[in-house]
Amino acid sequence: MADRKLHGEGMLTEAGRAEWDSRNARASALADSPYKKDFPLLAHKPDLAFLDSAATAQRPKAVLEAQKRFYEKMNANALRGLYQLSVEATEAIGASRAHVARFIGLTGKKDARDIVFCRNTSEALNLLAYAYAPTVLEPGDEVCITVMEHHSNLIPWQQACRAAGAKLVYMYPGSNGIVEESEMRAKIGSRTKIVSAIHVSNVLGVANDVKLMAQVAHENGAVMIVDGAQSVPHFPVDVTDLDCDFFAFSGHKVFGPMGIGVLWGRHELLDAMPPFLTGGEMIDAVSEQDATWAPVPEKFEAGTQDAAGIYALDAALTYVENVGFDAMQAREGALVAQCMRRLGELEFVRLIGPSDPALHHGVVSFNVCGIHPHDVASILDMDGVAIRAGHHCAQPLLAHLGIDSCCRASFAFYNDSTDIDRLIDGLQHVWRMFNG
Ligand code: ALA
Repeated sequence: MADRKLHGEGMLTEAGRAEWDSRNARASALADSPYKKDFPLLAHKPDLAFLDSAATAQRPKAVLEAQKRFYEKMNANALRGLYQLSVEATEAIGASRAHVARFIGLTGKKDARDIVFCRNTSEALNLLAYAYAPTVLEPGDEVCITVMEHHSNLIPWQQACRAAGAKLVYMYPGSNGIVEESEMRAKIGSRTKIVSAIHVSNVLGVANDVKLMAQVAHENGAVMIVDGAQSVPHFPVDVTDLDCDFFAFSGHKVFGPMGIGVLWGRHELLDAMPPFLTGGEMIDAVSEQDATWAPVPEKFEAGTQDAAGIYALDAALTYVENVGFDAMQAREGALVAQCMRRLGELEFVRLIGPSDPALHHGVVSFNVCGIHPHDVASILDMDGVAIRAGHHCAQPLLAHLGIDSCCRASFAFYNDSTDIDRLIDGLQHVWRMFNG
């Protein structure tokens, strides 16, 4: 029955009442995170408002326990030993590889073999810049990236272009912070050999249309590389649907351990590439003057791998799947919207990026008028609020925006509105300290 009043302005319809009830439920859930208890650091520091998950996420107990379990029960050097313990470690790596493949939308039986474990997104992108780029770049060729790249997807391309005599070309975002199709078509052309783009900006929070970009890259005969460090923690990624050629992400931003990263590549490209790092376990045969390479992925995994980290990454992905991206996105979207609304009420705060909260994936950047972001972050820290301040390893983007630095509050599903209350109270404190 349509019997409930809304602000005294009329009766609610059935649909309206359902929406109101669901909004209330969401709002009350936002007030007290049901997830913080899963994260030992957050549980042990109830007075901390951790708003820096874009730099590194916290890890759930399940991940910390997996890492410990590996060393307590499975520790041996994988791939090398013929004894049971080493076989178990090898199997743990294989299972994690298969899970990572499924997690990014790969369903084929052999697809796990195209998952390369490395240290982080930076290393994955360096692998491509140092091992793949020299095989395709010639003087006069172009590599096309966006101006919003994290330095990890920018400096390797500067280096690769310098080495090959190629040109680094930039795509710039439109008014909503996203690279538009016209800009892609203006910059990606017949000279472009490589397009490499950030999926979600670590400063603006916007998601680039990397599927469309891949299409434009392929129309021009270029390969498409996606830096997924900031997208994988926030929404499901399917590399088959994106139709990109390479995809990289870091374990520590998706609630896994630090020191584990992933590079996925099309098999034929990985197969044709030379190795990046050389040494143990990446060879087929070695003579005094020569060597041949192991197949993909071992060809790219020289030296002892962080097997415990790989095993714990498997646990992190399981944790994420158990929470579910629908629940994560609903929570993060509501938190970001609430944070932007409340920051917008502070007359001394300037928000950075698009005004539509739906375009921000977990990230809200801002500045406080006349106060350096480092001062803002340091004073917030005194109030138990952890944000990142500075150039966010994206100096060309900040220069494009006409600023040197900014403050960034970044969210994960474990945050709640108490964290936002603390941020707002802390910013008022900052303002009072500078303005009496
Ligand atoms: N890339 C991480 C950040 O944006 C470190 O903070």
